[in-house]
Amino acid sequence: MKIIRTVRAMQKWALAQRQAGLTIGFVPTMGALHEGHISLTRIARRRADLVVASIFVNPKQFGPREDFSKYPRAEKQDARMLKAAGVDVLFLPSVDEVYPGGHATSVNVEGLTSGLCGPFRPSHFQGVATVVAKLFNMVSPDVAVFGEKDFQQLAVIRRMTADLNFPIRIVGGPTLRDADGLAMSSRNRYLGAEERHRALAIPRALFEARERAAAGVTDVPTLRDGVIQRLGQAGLKVQYVEFVDPESLRPADKVHGPTQLAAAAFCGDTRLIDNLRIDPPRRKKNR
Ligand code: PAJ
Repeated sequence: MKIIRTVRAMQKWALAQRQAGLTIGFVPTMGALHEGHISLTRIARRRADLVVASIFVNPKQFGPREDFSKYPRAEKQDARMLKAAGVDVLFLPSVDEVYPGGHATSVNVEGLTSGLCGPFRPSHFQGVATVVAKLFNMVSPDVAVFGEKDFQQLAVIRRMTADLNFPIRIVGGPTLRDADGLAMSSRNRYLGAEERHRALAIPRALFEARERAAAGVTDVPTLRDGVIQRLGQAGLKVQYVEFVDPESLRPADKVHGPTQLAAAAFCGDTRLIDNLRIDPPRRKKNR
């Protein structure tokens, strides 16, 4: 696996591959990798000749009171995992490479960022859209893979890619979970054993809501109260629990079509997010 640290070298490599007629699949990450990240590299591998993964802890997407400086960094282990997964290039730019002095341009995706995580993390999605647009220009991928775990982020990146005419196919990868159901996340490393146990209330509450919807409860306030209660019982501090249209992200008041249930909650000091597709009850067949 080749390691590239500068924008210039990354662009030069990408250009050479494209000139040779090879396609590039791209998986951007912030490192502290787990199997969820690795699953995205496998999706990229199936869709392109070459796979580039990047690790860049992007200061622009962290708020002033968020965890940028203490975000887990595990470069050596990450590189081993990516190599074992057959990634061709690890792109590891420094903050100065990505944001040289004087940089003044940001990408802002309106509408999709106004709900869910948006109000709680002002300028987060601007930081994400800006860095992803820049990474796209550095790596020139044909395909880029993002996790459904960060459901709103995936919607924002799809919108940005279309709006800015990037000739890149955006592919979503399913959320990988630990055996007990907790969505894999780099931030799970912050959880102590007791917190890790309480955090399980998140997937449990989401899956329970999905079952209730399948059994005929379609009223969103009723389903929502159930989720909030579950999270509260586990001592989690709920930031939001929302049922939204999977494309527009607009709030739904009834589950009468595919609906995305998304939640954010603090477990101790750690902010966790998760989401699940909820379907309306299946109509009974006429006999
Ligand atoms: P990071 O949190 O490192 O996630 C990198 C990619 O892995 C994202 O597309 C995310 O949705 C995906 N991912 C995270 N947990 C997952 C899981 N359990 N199963 C499947 N995929 C999972 O998201 C970011 O970094 C950054 O915002 C980034 C896009 C790199 C821009 O800085």
